[in-house]
Amino acid sequence: MSDSNTIPVIAIDGPGGVGKGTISALLAEKLNWHYLDSGALYRLTGLACIQKGISFDSINDVTLLAENLKVIFLPSGGILLDKVDVEALIRTEIAGNNASIVAAIPQVRDALFKRQKAFLKLPGLVADGRDMGTTLFPDASLKVFLTASAEERAKRRYKQLIEKGNNVKLADLIGEIKERDERDMNRSASPLKAAQDAHIIDTSELTINEVFDEVMRLYKK
Ligand code: DC
Repeated sequence: MSDSNTIPVIAIDGPGGVGKGTISALLAEKLNWHYLDSGALYRLTGLACIQKGISFDSINDVTLLAENLKVIFLPSGGILLDKVDVEALIRTEIAGNNASIVAAIPQVRDALFKRQKAFLKLPGLVADGRDMGTTLFPDASLKVFLTASAEERAKRRYKQLIEKGNNVKLADLIGEIKERDERDMNRSASPLKAAQDAHIIDTSELTINEVFDEVMRLYKK
């Protein structure tokens, strides 16, 4: 059970490009639960810094921005920042990298803590991120840690980007993914790691449906 011992939480953690978002959104839809895309909050903080010309080194200013983000998660899936739909803007590789930089600032993590906790509502929450099982929801009903090699994750991302008509190199993507893993795993505040009681699922050889079925099986158990 969750913190309040009444609201169930499924925590889905893991590195970038492992399929957390797809699996979490699917779980939330099937269970009819709330969905926390915690990565989006870090992506929005990074974007707000760029838009306002604030350097990632100005810790106080970045923290203030994170505290005061005016965000609306639309039920349709869009995300409004200061009333403007920024969904496409925050999903780029650069936005992911910027998110990883601001996410390494402990004060920014603190600033976003309460906002993430507020997603915990009945009938339940699927929480997607890096520290859902370790920091945000340590009493989650189920903790899952998804893994896949950097090469496998880069190949998936490559396929998506090529299908969208982007001109990218697989080797560059592998390098970027490894760099982001490195930063997310080695920061001092809530680093990316599996909780001791998390179920680790290697998704390298699995389809989305197979991962979904496995998580549901674990939850029912
Ligand atoms: O899941 P994502 O790719 O949207 O996350 C973007 C970055 O945000 C990720 O590289 C690290 C950071 N992040 C984090 O530190 N903690 C979370 N719970 C979620 C994301």
